[in-house]
Amino acid sequence: HRDNIHYFPMLNSTMDKARELARADASHMSAVVAEVQQSGRGRLNRKWVSQEGGLWFSMILRPLLPPPLAWQVNFAASVAMSITLKKIFDLDVRVKWPNDILYQERKLAGLLSEMETEGDMISFVIIGIGLNVNNSPSKAEPNAISIMDILGKPVHRRNLLSDFLDQFEATVDEHVKKQKHSSDSASFTPSIITQWKEMTGTIGKKVRIETYDDFFEGVAVDVDDTGALLIEKDDGTICKVIYGDCFHQGV
Ligand code: BTN
Repeated sequence: HRDNIHYFPMLNSTMDKARELARADASHMSAVVAEVQQSGRGRLNRKWVSQEGGLWFSMILRPLLPPPLAWQVNFAASVAMSITLKKIFDLDVRVKWPNDILYQERKLAGLLSEMETEGDMISFVIIGIGLNVNNSPSKAEPNAISIMDILGKPVHRRNLLSDFLDQFEATVDEHVKKQKHSSDSASFTPSIITQWKEMTGTIGKKVRIETYDDFFEGVAVDVDDTGALLIEKDDGTICKVIYGDCFHQGV
């Protein structure tokens, strides 16, 4: 029922195709899907292996937010994906900070976002999601898992995508309201953070944090109103992590 999903048998990356379409005025909530990606990418300059059977897609968003609040749509996407996987397959998934979807501590999906601005406005955000569906990622990545691995049978990806997009639209409508200034959110917790916290497995866990030039361990105690992860180190100090990787320990 959607006319804004663009399918391709093969692309280098759905991120690049989505950017190209966004620059050519593609509408809010349009999506680009590829059966196979030849140079799929992940966060932190990693490669993302994208073979047949997975669901590799990027969405174009034009949120009415100032650039410093763009992260809210990423949190909305991981919340919407968790809700969708619970609803359709009754999967007990958890979100790992910032936006990975885990099933029993193994990676089911990852999310990558890129933004283009014009002056002090967002012109568009591209959110890419790689969801392991009917592929077998654990051969290359022992910590990864697919829906087929969990359920023991392949599932219909087109229905899954359209259910997700419906849920994502609903989540964005409900939680990512028009906000003019980043200071609008300074005095209260955005409701998308409240939702995200209900679905995360990170808070309360011992974690190892890796950033470009540093690594340390501690307990993840909270996520603040800007989406940053708060880590309590052994010496009691609190460290705020804005960007980087988080590994759950002792699981
Ligand atoms: C991560 O966990 O590091 C994020 C992975 C994001 C992968 C998806 S697959 C669709 C889209 N196109 C890409 O090249 N990457 C994202």
